[in-house]
Amino acid sequence: MKLWILLLLSLFLLEIQNGASQQTKNKKDASLRPGRKRVKGRNPKIKDKEVGGKLQSILTQVLDKGRFLRLGDDVVLDSGKTLELRCKGTKIGWAYPSYLDTFNDSRLSINQNEKFSQLTLTTPSAADTGEYSCWVILCDGDECEKDTDRVSSSYIYFTDKDDLFVPSTIHFEIVYMRPDKPATVPCRVTTPKATVSLHREMPPEEVQVDGKLISYNPTKGFILQNPGPEHMGAFYCKAKSTTKNTAQVSTKYQLLYLEVPSGPPYATIQASSNEVSGGDIFNITCTVLGEPEMDVKFIWTYPGQDQRPVSIQASHRLINRGVGQIMRLSQSVMIVDDVETIDYGNYMCTAKNTHGETSLATQVNSYH
Ligand SMILES: *[C@@H]1O[C@H](CO)[C@@H](O)[C@H](O)[C@H]1NC(C)=O
Ligand SMILES: *[C@@H]1O[C@H](CO)[C@@H](O)[C@H](O)[C@H]1NC(C)=O
Repeated sequence: MKLWILLLLSLFLLEIQNGASQQTKNKKDASLRPGRKRVKGRNPKIKDKEVGGKLQSILTQVLDKGRFLRLGDDVVLDSGKTLELRCKGTKIGWAYPSYLDTFNDSRLSINQNEKFSQLTLTTPSAADTGEYSCWVILCDGDECEKDTDRVSSSYIYFTDKDDLFVPSTIHFEIVYMRPDKPATVPCRVTTPKATVSLHREMPPEEVQVDGKLISYNPTKGFILQNPGPEHMGAFYCKAKSTTKNTAQVSTKYQLLYLEVPSGPPYATIQASSNEVSGGDIFNITCTVLGEPEMDVKFIWTYPGQDQRPVSIQASHRLINRGVGQIMRLSQSVMIVDDVETIDYGNYMCTAKNTHGETSLATQVNSYH
């Protein structure tokens, strides 16, 4: 109940739905990447040709005049010049920055030839910096699967002197910190040679990076090993190149700490009225307050199930509970119109998330 009161008190505070919904969109698109399909179960009939020893990377970059460069863990390339990657194999899967799929980028094309697959990215820019990987797909009839032993990947930096930071599609990013995991401030750079620092906006100060509790990885950003409420606030990164003295500033990051433990939904149920008469209209609202990225499903059990038409509306939005704490308010409202005798009884709402479920019930009786 206490949580509920806090929630009502904070309803007037700003909502920042926009930034967060964009983030979820990016995530979804990434999971839809064509190369990411997984086939269940490994077929024992398929045997790998290579046995023992360390396998060579199957990923190469096509250079001028038909020369090839076998790619290592990372490579620094100039932006603007068409990227051609080749991967040996009759059936190849690819992964690349999700950004390219989100915008269905026509600059990217993949062609499977008889003996290799080629990925071409025309006019690559700083934003295309990221991991590119390919793998052999093994098929037995219609059943195909990723050969996890033959995956090659390389982190490609597309260096651009005007963009030391990999541009983000979101100009104000939210970073959720949880008590049990490291958090990342994703200010990646377009050259591994840049010197990067982390800054708090208020009070303005540079964050001390000790390489342990807080460290920097140019392919990921600043990693906070044990984030806590003291890390909440607005931050930005600053980068300096080896050639220029003027520093560049990244987009802003709002760090939010979620103290809600991961668990089954925290739910409440409320009827607009628990005593109704024939012909009345009433509704029952099931509310869940939880983590911003946690989807909640509602299932209703009620007296007139399968016999009475009811209307059920589900919605969710992000709310600010104050002190930078963002939560997701998910609701399902069942509306029963033109009450009949069959509608009196127990209304039960079951809220489910990936951690479990919570069931709550309320009685709706005939009015005397
Ligand atoms: C992506 O672009 C291609 C070609 O421009 C088009 O055929 C395809 O329908 C697009 N897909 C989406 C999801 O927009
Ligand atoms: C539920 O009932 C209350 C009280 O009659 C009403 O104010 C509210 O708008 C209803 N909600 C919906 C979604 O119909």
